Formats: sequence, structure tokens, C-alpha cells
Amino acid sequence: MNDSQGRARSEHMAERVRAHCLVARDRGVHEVRALQDIAVELELSLADCATAVGREDLLDAAGSSWMLAPSSPPTPGQLVIRPCTVDDLGDLTAQWPVPGDVHEAHHARQLRGDAAYLVAWRDTTPLGSVVLRRDGCTGERGRAAHPESVEICHLQVREEHRGQGVGTALIAAAEHEALRHGHRVVAMGAADDNPGALRLYERLGYRATGIVDVTEYDWVGEDGVVHHAREHDQLLLKSLTSG
Ligand SMILES: CC(C)(COP(=O)(O)OP(=O)(O)OC[C@H]1O[C@@H](n2cnc3c(N)ncnc32)[C@H](O)[C@@H]1OP(=O)(O)O)[C@@H](O)C(=O)NCCC(=O)NCCS
Repeated sequence: MNDSQGRARSEHMAERVRAHCLVARDRGVHEVRALQDIAVELELSLADCATAVGREDLLDAAGSSWMLAPSSPPTPGQLVIRPCTVDDLGDLTAQWPVPGDVHEAHHARQLRGDAAYLVAWRDTTPLGSVVLRRDGCTGERGRAAHPESVEICHLQVREEHRGQGVGTALIAAAEHEALRHGHRVVAMGAADDNPGALRLYERLGYRATGIVDVTEYDWVGEDGVVHHAREHDQLLLKSLTSG
């Protein structure tokens, strides 16, 4: 691509981002959230979208200047979200030990090809992680009613890093990853005893379907004891093309 083609392409991209920003403003969508939606919809990085409309300030405001699998080295302190690699596993388990070999299990699913295990890092510190299930919803009712949907699950931000936009950025990165693989409908399950997570998902455009699935699973506590959990999860859906 020569210089003038490159300039034309950038201008075209900026036009598209500006057009989406206008639509979002007319709908009264918060500008930071609008930028995140636009990045997902146009399959661009947040930084590219912000630059296209000269609003790099929004990246700091959101605290979510994340990069998915960056091609260039991140700047110090930048939030980076990338699929977990074999090399990452050592750092991850050393700094963020989770009983029950949870990191290893999610990574193994990624190797099998039915999931992406995305981890948020700031410099060399892991902050949180999320799983994108490519093989559909976890719950039976959700799978039956929405076979076209992939699911974002196992969202977790380490306690000391919560409330800084990391969870929001992980969801945006998982949506970006879903779109990259051609999935247009994404589900998230919210446990009925987790109103904070439900509020977050609704704020990010997920809508209740009325479907509730019961999930049972075992988990290992800090003390090494295996606990059994039974959860009622309501299914929320988001269409990645409707903005
Ligand atoms: C839910 C969770 C992933 C959010 O991550 P986060 O990085 O704090 O999220 P953000 O900073 O992007 O957004 C904050 C929002 O998360 C929601 N939230 C839910 N639980 C929260 C918690 N314990 N602390 C802070 N925010 C929480 C709130 O709605 C908050 O929005 P508010 O300003 O309207 O109150 C994180 O709190 C967490 O790991 N919780 C424990 C595990 C969990 O509940 N996972 C979801 C399973 S359904």
C-alpha cells in the first residue's frame, strides 16, 4: 500500500468511527462505552478508534486502554489482554494461584480449540481473566434456545484490581475475539446472587432472555477442601452487530 492509499484507508476508517460516534451520541450512549462498542463492531482496537476521532483522552478516562495480542510492545502500565500461552502459565499460577488448577484447565480447553482463555496483564502482573466458550452456552436451556450463541464465562478480576475497568475491558476483548471468529451473538450468565455482575453486563448491552439454567460444579477452597455449588444463572444475550 502506498502513502496516499494508506491515508485514504485511515480517513475511511475515521469516517466510519465518526459516523458510529454520532449514532451513539443520538442514542444517549455514554461516550466511553460507545467507543468500546464501536471498537468491537468495526473490529478495531480501542486505541485506533480513539485516535480516529481525536479522543485519546477517553482511553485514560475508561482506564481501559487494552490491546488484544499486541503486535508491538505495550507501553509501561498499559493494560494488555491476550490469550494465555504456555509461557504465561508459570507467571500466572505463581502470582495468582487458584486452587483446583483452574488456569491450567482453561488453558487446556483453549488448546483443544473450544475456548479462548484471555488474561489481562499490566506489565508483568495478571489482573483478571475470562473464557470465551466457542462451543455454545454452558446451560442446557440456553444451548437449546440459542444454539447460535457463544458464551463469555469465568470472568474474574483479582480483588485488589476491581472497579478500574478491567472486567469491562475483558468483556470487550472477548467480544472482539468472538467477532474475529465470525460469531455475532454472545451470551453471559449472571448468578442470581450476583446483582453487581448483572448490572455490569446490562450496562454493556447484554439483555435478559428470561432463560434460567441451574449449574452445579465443584470448587476447591483455599483450605484445599472441595465444595459443591448449585447456582441459578440467568442468561443474557448481546448481538454484536446491533451496536
Ligand atoms: C464482576 C467483576 C468481574 C467486575 O470486574 P471489575 O474489573 O471490577 O469491573 P469494572 O471495573 O469494569 O466495572 C465495575 C462494575 O462491576 C460490577 N461489580 C460486580 N461485582 C463487583 C465487585 N466485587 N467490585 C467492584 N465491582 C463489581 C459493578 O457493577 C461495577 O459497576 P458499578 O460502578 O455500577 O458498581 C469482578 O468484580 C469480579 O471478579 N467479581 C468476582 C467474580 C464474579 O462475580 N464474576 C462474574 C461471574 S457472573
